[in-house]
Order: sequence, then structure tokens, then C-alpha cells
Amino acid sequence: VLTTWWLNFELKLSCLLQKTLANYYENGSNRCVYTRQQMQDRSYQNLTEVPSGLPSDLKYLDMSHNSIPKLGEAALSGLAQLCFLKMTHCGLEEISPSVFNHTPVLKVLNVSHNYLKVIPDFSLKQLIILDLAHNLYDSYQIPESYQDLQNLTRLYLGSTAALSVNSNDFNPLTNLSLPHLEFGAGIQWQKYETGAFAKLKSLQKLSLHASFCDDFRMFDAVLRDVNKTGTTSLRLITVFPDNCNITGNPFKSLRTMTSIQSLTIENTWINSSFMEVFLKNLWLSSVTDLSFVNMTYNEDTPDGFQFRTINHTFSLRSVTFDGINHYQYKYPTFNMSFDLISNLEYLKFSGSGMNILPCKLISVLPSLETLDLSDNLLIDTGFWWPGCSYTSVFPKLKHLSLSKNRFQSLLFIAQQTHQMKTLKSLDLSFNSLKLDGVHPWPEQLKELNLGNNNLGNGVFKYLSSNFERIDLSKTGITTITQDDLSPFTRLTDLYLSSNQIQVIPASLKAPALVSLYIDQNAITSISKEALSGFTSLQILKAGNNPFTCSCDSFWFVTHLNKSLLPDWPLQYICSTPPSYAGLSLSGLNELSCETWLQATVALSVIVVISGITGLVFYKCDGVWYTKMLWVWIRVKRRGQKRSHMLQNVSFTYHAFISYSHHDADWVDNQLVPSLEGTGFSLCIHERDFVPGDWIIDNIINCVESSYKTVFVLSEHFVQSEWCNYELFFAQHRAISVQQDSLVFILLEPIPTNSLPKKFLRLRSLLRQQTYLEWPKDERKQQIFWASLKSMLQMGNKSMVLKDVALAISDMAPLITNSAEELPVEL
Ligand SMILES: *[C@@H]1O[C@H](CO)[C@@H](O)[C@H](O)[C@H]1NC(C)=O
Ligand SMILES: *[C@@H]1O[C@H](CO)[C@@H](O)[C@H](O)[C@H]1NC(C)=O
Ligand SMILES: *[C@@H]1O[C@H](CO)[C@@H](O)[C@H](O)[C@H]1NC(C)=O
Ligand SMILES: *[C@@H]1O[C@H](CO)[C@@H](O)[C@H](O)[C@H]1NC(C)=O
Ligand SMILES: *[C@@H]1O[C@H](CO)[C@@H](O)[C@H](O)[C@H]1NC(C)=O
Ligand SMILES: *[C@@H]1O[C@H](CO)[C@@H](O)[C@H](O)[C@H]1NC(C)=O
Ligand SMILES: *[C@@H]1O[C@H](CO)[C@@H](O)[C@H](O)[C@H]1NC(C)=O
Ligand SMILES: *[C@@H]1O[C@H](CO)[C@@H](O)[C@H](O)[C@H]1NC(C)=O
Ligand SMILES: *[C@@H]1O[C@H](CO)[C@@H](O)[C@H](O)[C@H]1NC(C)=O
Ligand SMILES: *[C@@H]1O[C@H](CO)[C@@H](O)[C@H](O)[C@H]1NC(C)=O
Ligand SMILES: *[C@@H]1O[C@H](CO)[C@@H](O)[C@H](O)[C@H]1NC(C)=O
Ligand SMILES: *[C@@H]1O[C@H](CO)[C@@H](O)[C@H](O)[C@H]1NC(C)=O
Repeated sequence: VLTTWWLNFELKLSCLLQKTLANYYENGSNRCVYTRQQMQDRSYQNLTEVPSGLPSDLKYLDMSHNSIPKLGEAALSGLAQLCFLKMTHCGLEEISPSVFNHTPVLKVLNVSHNYLKVIPDFSLKQLIILDLAHNLYDSYQIPESYQDLQNLTRLYLGSTAALSVNSNDFNPLTNLSLPHLEFGAGIQWQKYETGAFAKLKSLQKLSLHASFCDDFRMFDAVLRDVNKTGTTSLRLITVFPDNCNITGNPFKSLRTMTSIQSLTIENTWINSSFMEVFLKNLWLSSVTDLSFVNMTYNEDTPDGFQFRTINHTFSLRSVTFDGINHYQYKYPTFNMSFDLISNLEYLKFSGSGMNILPCKLISVLPSLETLDLSDNLLIDTGFWWPGCSYTSVFPKLKHLSLSKNRFQSLLFIAQQTHQMKTLKSLDLSFNSLKLDGVHPWPEQLKELNLGNNNLGNGVFKYLSSNFERIDLSKTGITTITQDDLSPFTRLTDLYLSSNQIQVIPASLKAPALVSLYIDQNAITSISKEALSGFTSLQILKAGNNPFTCSCDSFWFVTHLNKSLLPDWPLQYICSTPPSYAGLSLSGLNELSCETWLQATVALSVIVVISGITGLVFYKCDGVWYTKMLWVWIRVKRRGQKRSHMLQNVSFTYHAFISYSHHDADWVDNQLVPSLEGTGFSLCIHERDFVPGDWIIDNIINCVESSYKTVFVLSEHFVQSEWCNYELFFAQHRAISVQQDSLVFILLEPIPTNSLPKKFLRLRSLLRQQTYLEWPKDERKQQIFWASLKSMLQMGNKSMVLKDVALAISDMAPLITNSAEELPVEL
């Protein structure tokens, strides 16, 4: 969390200060260009040495979390193109100086979290990032050879065994243009010799993981040396240990350190008495960006925090408080004139437990452009406190984040935002919002994030047609239609990740849309027609969906330009049919989906199957198999018709199972495990019925939220349950229940004529509908399950012939298996 935060902070900083400093906080893998074949992840493999036989064009190698105590001279021979090497957590004690002679173009080396006893000696002219932190060397003496690391931009050093920093330790780095150093292992040093850091002339960023207490002269010496380097950004982690009683003024030097612009204090206990002293230094300094991350705040002064000054303002442009642990369980007193910070452009106050925003703040920060109050306990009236009267409301505010709070009323927020005349983006993710009324949003608002609120399909009606970027990730959306999208003519970015959308309808049009995120939904395939209305699309993130690896995905896999898909191919995994489950979509066999081939394959499969069926027919159970085939073909053909109607409907369950409690044994032990075990969701009569509701209401609810209704027919069922359904159908005559959605399983033979005369409906249904008979033979049962599952699968728009052929070929092994006693050669 802290690193992400730091990364965000960096990005913001670089925008704010218009600096072009490289992004220092990535892990370095982007410094190397490599393909998947040129990359190997050998982490967590219990390796005891670098494996031999690695490809000679290897560029990226990760061997972390193994047990490789020594990197011998020849360990990396043959890897002349290696660019990225990560070997953390390997128990590495020794690195031979010549090992890297074999890898002259290495740019990133991460050997942190090992047991290196000395800082290894090597020469790698192209090295950019070197991580040697969390090792056990007892001195920070840098080897002479490091003066050759001309391209080094980031160096990480840290060892709990190194207790002192000597003035000559960094000599070899003197003539390098090293801009960024992460230094220390979080311990208290015994000695710091003045002049050490001053050697790093080009240093711009320093992260210091070291503790100082009692005697702050050492800390002051460090600050004075840092002052000599021209460092602009200083980050201090655990700088004062929790049990330290800070006396005096350790930050006094800050006042005259003219080059420091950004100061971050992380993981530190801050007393209000110290805060007063600290801020006085800051007030006189030139620091523009101040951050406190994960601080524990303790009021040790009787009146809380008091800051009395004359009218001179801070130079601060950006203030961040991220994570405040209150030592006292009470609201801290903070008496300071906000006028002092009237130049503030960025304010983040996060993870603080705040539930009411001070009235004054809203009017008093005229320059504020970004306000981030995420992760607090604000409610609607905690932010817009009714008792406040404002002279102006954030006249320059562009970005407001109220994410991770307790806001509830979208209506209220839409009304209130009209006061913010320049607001461009609003983040309301992770709240408890309700769609409680439509109110027009301010015209200037272009970006709205409503992610992680339970809003549902209706949410589009509550949005503004001016929006260019809408985030509706994880909002409980199940369908998306053209009516939803058509008002948003300027929409360029739409995020619908982590919903339950099953299809992208073919009719959708959003000509301005540039990026669309629909990953982690319930989409089984994406057709050409579905994307044809997105004429400007450049980014489509659609991974982590339950893809069907059949010819439905053929176009997507073979014809779609993959540069659209940032997450291809790793996040695209087949989920059905079962034989493909877990395989990568990119490995789909392409050829068998070409139309002419399909027809040929289908025909030949049918011929073969007919042959087999004929033989089986001869042998014994032919009638049964033929019936199954017939069932199958009818199901598929009807699934085809139904799929069109389905596009705008969504279901909670694949099937509603209705049965008599006499047959509960079979349902519980056979049906439910077979279906739920393979990912079908079932609404079970009795189990999922809401107690207290009238049975017909329960039935209606279950039928309406299920794609199919399965009747387990037996004498008992007919006697005890069916009358409910006659009633149900009678009531729903007007709605016209789709007969296609009914599936009948005959547990025992029930001659139609034996049915009671009053059950007219059942008699006619059984005459018209195909039904599945439960076979006693175990091998036939496999086919029974396959047929049932195929009936319950949501339909799609594929060709009937192709589907039938595929289904049959799925079934072929089962049938041949059943027919294996036959003396036939195929
Ligand atoms: C080196 O690896 C460790 C452990 O995974 C990681 O925490 C650290 O950030 C990496 N260093 C760099 C520079 O990416
Ligand atoms: C480096 O970061 C990228 C993206 O953030 C990630 O995909 C990659 O796995 C990371 N590599 C290592 C070695 O941590
Ligand atoms: C590594 O060893 C551990 C314990 O000996 C074992 O549980 C684990 O499966 C092994 N991992 C591999 C990748 O062999
Ligand atoms: C340093 O990097 C630059 C490109 O960033 C490259 O041109 C130069 O050759 C590198 N220097 C060395 C010593 O490899
Ligand atoms: C750095 O460069 C100066 C002159 O440019 C030279 O006198 C000095 O010896 C160099 N220092 C190191 C450690 O190479
Ligand atoms: C903060 O004040 C408490 C007394 O309230 C003291 O025990 C503690 O040492 C002080 N800590 C710091 C970091 O100043
Ligand atoms: C902190 O140290 C000062 C000076 O040594 C002392 O006066 C004060 O009582 C100490 N405070 C605590 C809480 O120990
Ligand atoms: C920091 O450096 C400036 C000159 O660059 C100097 O005027 C100032 O006194 C220095 N401050 C400290 C604390 O060394
Ligand atoms: C927050 O800081 C405290 C020390 O004040 C430290 O013990 C804790 O681990 C830190 N938490 C995180 C998440 O870094
Ligand atoms: C706040 O500070 C001002 C002077 O800056 C003082 O007059 C006032 O009494 C203080 N208020 C509280 C509640 O301490
Ligand atoms: C501070 O206030 C006084 C009067 O209260 C005024 O004369 C002076 O100009 C102000 N100084 C600044 C820097 O605003
Ligand atoms: C895919 O799109 C990219 C950028 O939009 C383009 O450069 C590339 O030529 C396209 N590839 C194909 C095969 O059309």
C-alpha cells in the first residue's frame, strides 16, 4: 500500500512540479524489452543453482525464493542477452566478481533479501537499477569497480550488520550521476562520519531507512550533507523510534536547506509538541510538498496542537496525510489558521477517521485543485455540513476523491457538486451509495467513479450525458443495452470490470469510446458484431471472463487485432467446454472453425456417429441413444432461437430444480453434485425457498430468476407437487411461460395416459416436450449428464449445425466407450 501510494505521489509530484524525472519507483522490468519466450520465472522452485540449458536469448530471469548460496563464475554463462535478473530470497552469500562478465547488457539486478557478506564487486557498464538492500554486509564500503556504473540511476543499499557510515564509503560513486539512493536497514547507526552523503553530488532523491534518537547530532550531520548534494526529495522512514523522547529541534537545519522541495515522513510517532516545533521549521523552509505516511499522533500538550504565527504563509503546495493512528481515542485539537496554507494546490487527508470536514476549510483554500479525502468516515452531511455557510466553495477544485467513505445519497451529492464551479472529476467509489433520485450533474463534471457501490442496471439513468469517463466497476450490473449507452455521446472511457454482464449485445454503439473495460464479468464470447459499434476503440480489457472455447470465439482469437487487448493472452482462459477448461484461449485450434472445414468436419462426424449409432442400435440400446441424439438436436436448435431473447435478460440461476421430497435422495446425491460441481448454480425447491412465503410466490421467484426449470418427474412428484404448477401456469397464462425453458427428467417411466385427467397441462407438455429419462446403466448416465448440462448452458448465436456437431463430438468418446465391447474398428 505504501509503495503504491508513493508511486501515486511521485506521479502527482512530477505533474505538479513539471519535472521530467524518470519514474523511479517501478521494479525495473520495463527497462528491458522482451517477449514471453525470452522471459523465465523460476521462482519458488527449490533450485539450488542456476538451471543449465536456459535459452541463449533469455532477457528476463526471475529466480527468487530458491536456495542458491553461491553464484559461481560460470553460473550465468551463455546468457549474453540477459537484461533483467532477480534473485531475492535465495540465501545468496557470495557472488563471484566475474559472473557478470557473461551478461554484459544486464540493466536490472535485484539481489536484495539475501545474506551477502560484502557488497559484491563487479562491473556492469549498462546497469541502471541495482538492489542490494536487506543483506548482511558489515560495511557500506562501495567497491572501486562501481565507478564504471555510468548508467546507474537507482541504487538500494541496506544491511542490519552495517552499523556505521564512513566518510569514504561512497568515494567510487563520486563521479557518477546517480540520482536516486535508497539507503539503510531501519536500524540506529553507531557512527555517521560527516561528508559521506556529500560525496553523492548528483543525488536528487534520497530515501533514508534509519532511526535516530537521544543524540540528534548524527541526524543533523546527515541533513547537512544532504544539503550539499542538491537533493530535492527526501523521504525519512521510521526516522524516530516509537520509544524516543524527542527533545530539542532535530529539523532545525531544514530552514536553510534551500534545495529540498519534497519531504516525506513515514512510519513515525509524532507528538503534538514535536509537530509544533517541526512545522515552525517547515514554515521557514522552502519545502513545497509535505507528506506524513502512517503516523501515530499523540497529543502530549494540554491544548492540543497550537500554531501561533504572524501572517507569513507556508510555501507548501501539496500536503498529504495518509494513515493517521490516533494514540488518544479522541478528536485531536488543531488550532492553526488555514490562511497559512492558502496556497495549497493538493491536499490529501486519508485514513484519518475524520467524519466531519471543518467548515472553514471549504472556503479558505482558494488555490486547491485536488482534494483527496478517501478512506475516512465521512457521510453526506459530514462533508457538506448543513451548519456551514460558505463564502466560496473551492473555487479552483478540479479533482475530488471521496472514495472509501460512507456516502449514501447520489441525489444529494449531485445537488451539492453544483457549488464547485470547476469540478472535473469526482470519485465516489467504495461508498454505500443509493440511486435515490435523478438530479442533473454540473455541466463541467466530466469524470465520475461510482465503482464498488451496489447500484444495479438502472444506474445509467442517473448519470450526465456530459460524462467522458465513467467507472462502474463492481456495481452489480448484469446487462448493458443501447438505451443505456446512447445518451453518452462524449463517452471515451467506460469501466465495467467485475460485474455480471453476460453478453455485449451486437447493437451497441459508442462511436467516441476509446477504452472499454469488461474484464471479470460473465461473458462467454465476444463477437465481431458486438465490437462493430465501437469505432474508436483502442483499449479493450476483457480478460478473466468464463470464455467458451468453441468456434464462437474464433473471430476473437484469430481476427481481432490483439494490440487492442492489454491483458492478452494471460487473462484469457477457457472455462467451457470442460475438456478445454483452464487452457489459454490463444491456444484454440483455429482451423476447425473455418466454415467449409466445419461443414466437412460436422458431416464426417455425423457419418461416423451414425455408423456407431447404427452398430449400437444393433447391439442393444439403440433406441435410447437415438432418442438422446434427437433430444440434443432439438435442444440446440431451440437454444439458438432463445438466445436472441436472452440478450436483455439475466438470471441468477442456471436452473430451478423442482422435485418431490420422496426423490430428495437422488437430487441431493446425484443431481446437485453433478451440476453444482461443474459450476452450475441451482435454485433448489425447499433448500432455496424463502420460508414463510406462499409456495406459489416461491415458485414464481425461482422460475423467474432461473434460465431453465427442471422437473424431476416421478409418480410422487405428479401426486404431490404438480398441482402447484398447474396453478402457477394458470396464473401466468397472460405472461405466457416459455415452454422452452422447461426441462423434464423422468426418474421412472410414467405413461402419459396414466396421468390424472385434471393435469391437462402436464399431459400436453409431456407430449410436446422432449424429456430425459434417467438410465440405470452407469455409462449411459454419463451421457444423461452431458445432455442435461448442455440443456442448461446459456444459449449463443452460433450455427445450429456446428453446435450439434461439436456437441456430438464431445459425446463421441462416451458413446464409443459404451460401445467398446463391439468388434468394430473405426
Ligand atoms: C527487489 O525485490 C524485492 C523483493 O521482491 C522487492 O521488494 C524490491 O522492490 C525489488 N527491487 C526493485 C528495485 O524493484
Ligand atoms: C514488475 O512490475 C510489473 C508491472 O508492475 C509486473 O508485471 C512484473 O511482474 C514485476 N516484476 C517483478 C520481478 O516484480
Ligand atoms: C519445494 O519444497 C517444498 C518442501 O520441501 C515442497 O512442499 C514444494 O512442493 C517444493 N516446490 C517445488 C516447486 O518443487
Ligand atoms: C547508457 O545509456 C545510454 C542510453 O540510455 C546508452 O546510449 C549508453 O551507451 C549507456 N552507457 C553505457 C556505458 O553503457
Ligand atoms: C572523479 O573525477 C575527478 C576529475 O574529473 C578525478 O580527479 C577523480 O579522481 C575522480 N574520482 C574517482 C573516484 O574516480
Ligand atoms: C511523545 O510524548 C510521550 C509523552 O506523552 C513520550 O513518552 C514519548 O516519548 C514522546 N514521543 C516522541 C516521539 O516524542
Ligand atoms: C523527555 O525528555 C526531557 C528532557 O530529557 C524530559 O524533561 C521530559 O520529562 C521527558 N519526557 C518524557 C515523557 O519522558
Ligand atoms: C544548505 O546549503 C545552502 C547553500 O546551498 C546554505 O546557504 C545553507 O546554510 C545550508 N544549510 C545547512 C543546514 O547546511
Ligand atoms: C506504521 O508505523 C509503525 C511505526 O510507527 C510501524 O510499526 C508499522 O509497521 C507501520 N505500518 C505500516 C503498514 O507500514
Ligand atoms: C487558537 O489560537 C489563537 C491564537 O493563534 C488563540 O487566540 C485561541 O485562543 C486558540 N484557541 C484555542 C481553542 O486554543
Ligand atoms: C502582516 O500583517 C501586517 C499587519 O497586520 C502587514 O502590515 C504586513 O504587510 C503583513 N505581512 C505580510 C507578509 O503579509
Ligand atoms: C493493430 O493495431 C495497431 C495499432 O492500432 C497497428 O499498428 C497494427 O498494424 C495493427 N495490426 C494489424 C495486424 O492490423
